[in-house]
Amino acid sequence: MTAVSRIVLSEPMLGGNELTYLRECVESNFVSSAGPFVGQFETEFAKKSGARQAVACSSGTAALHVAMRLAGAGPGKLVAVSSFTFIASANAVSYTGADILLVDSEPCTWNMDTERLYDDVVRRARLGRRIPSVVEVVHVLGHPTDIEPILELRQRFGIRIVEDAAEAHGARWSSGAVGGRQVGTVGDFGCFSFNGNKLITSGSGGMVVSNDHAAALRARHLVNQAKSGDDGYEHDEVGYNYRMSNIAAAVGLAQLEQLDTFLLRKRDMAERYGRLLASAPVTRPPHAEWAVPSYWLYSVLLRSDDARVVDIVRGLQARGIQVRGLWPPLHRQRPYLSCERLGGAVADGIHRSGLSLPSSVGITSAEQGSVVSGLSNLLARGAATRFDERGAEPTW
Ligand SMILES: Cc1ncc(COP(=O)(O)O)c(C=O)c1O
Repeated sequence: MTAVSRIVLSEPMLGGNELTYLRECVESNFVSSAGPFVGQFETEFAKKSGARQAVACSSGTAALHVAMRLAGAGPGKLVAVSSFTFIASANAVSYTGADILLVDSEPCTWNMDTERLYDDVVRRARLGRRIPSVVEVVHVLGHPTDIEPILELRQRFGIRIVEDAAEAHGARWSSGAVGGRQVGTVGDFGCFSFNGNKLITSGSGGMVVSNDHAAALRARHLVNQAKSGDDGYEHDEVGYNYRMSNIAAAVGLAQLEQLDTFLLRKRDMAERYGRLLASAPVTRPPHAEWAVPSYWLYSVLLRSDDARVVDIVRGLQARGIQVRGLWPPLHRQRPYLSCERLGGAVADGIHRSGLSLPSSVGITSAEQGSVVSGLSNLLARGAATRFDERGAEPTW
C-alpha cells in the first residue's frame, strides 16, 4: 500500500489576509486582471524588493519569457543559462528562438560558475566568436549567485542580465559591490514565481521587476496582448495573455504582507536543521559569507557512497516524509542535449547526491526532528538495506 505523506516538502501558509481579500474580490465582482489588487500587489512588491517597477504576470515562466524578449533574446542570439536549475529557466529562453549556452555550477553555491563564464566570454571575444547577448543567472533554491563577474561582463560587453529569482524571494547579498541589494534588483530584469510551492504564493503567478521605467512599461504592454488603441482592439506587436488575475493578486498581496515573518521562520528552520544534522554524513546547503539565503528548500548532499537518493526518497516516504531529489541538469534533459555547454560535472554531482528536505514555512521542530532521525537511520543502515524496490513507490 502506498504511504500517505504527512510531512510534506513545501506547502503554503495561508494565515493572513488571504480570505478577507478574496472576499473583496467576490463581493466587488472584480475577479479578472482589471481589479485593484493587481496594481496594489505590484506597488507593494516593488517597494519590498527595492526595485523601481514591478509587473505582475500569470506565472514565473511568463515573467521570464517577457524579460528575455525585452533583454533582446531571439533568433541568432546566444543566452547563457545555469545548467543546474528547473527546466522553466531554459524554456523561457527557447520560446524566443535564442540559442542556449549551458554553464556548470560552482561547488560553493551550486549556482552558475560566473568566473568560468567570464573567462569563456573574454576568450570568445578575443577569438571573434559569438558571445552571449544575455546572461540568465538563477538564484537556485534561494541562494544568491556570485553576480559580480556578470556585472563586469555587462560593463565590458553590454551583455544584459536577467535574474531568475523564482525561488529566492527576499534573499540578498550582504557584502561586495551589491551588498544590501535583494536578488532580482541588480540585473536588467528580475523574475519571481508565486507558484503554490514557493515561499509566497498567489496560487500561480509571477512578477517581472526592473529599475528601468520604459522597460517596465514595455513589459506591461507585452503581458496585456500589446494593446495600443483606446478601444482595446488595436495591437502594435505580438503580445501575450500573461496578465495576473485580481483573485491571484489578492492572495499574493496577503502573502507578501507575511514575507518578513516567513523569511525569519525559514532562517530558524535552516539553523535547526543545521544543528540536527551536525553529525550526519551529509553536506549542508551553501551559505556563502557574502550572501543571505532565503532557504526556499533546505537541500543537502549525501556524502556516503553507499547512499542513493532514490532509496532515501522511498525510505522516508514509507515513514510519511516527503523529500525530493534535485533536478537533473539541463545538459541531461532531452530538449537541451545539443546545447553548447561549459562543463557540467559539478551540476551532475549535485543531482546525483542532492536531496531537498521538508521545508514548509510552518514546519515544526518536532517534524524536523522526525525528518532528521528518519534520514539518519536510513543512512546508518546504508547499502546493506537498500530500500526494497517492491516497497512503497514515491507518489510525486
Ligand atoms: C528556477 C525556476 N525558474 C522558473 C520557474 C517557473 O515559475 P512558474 O512555475 O511560476 O512558471 C520555477 C518554478 O516553478 C523555478 O523554480
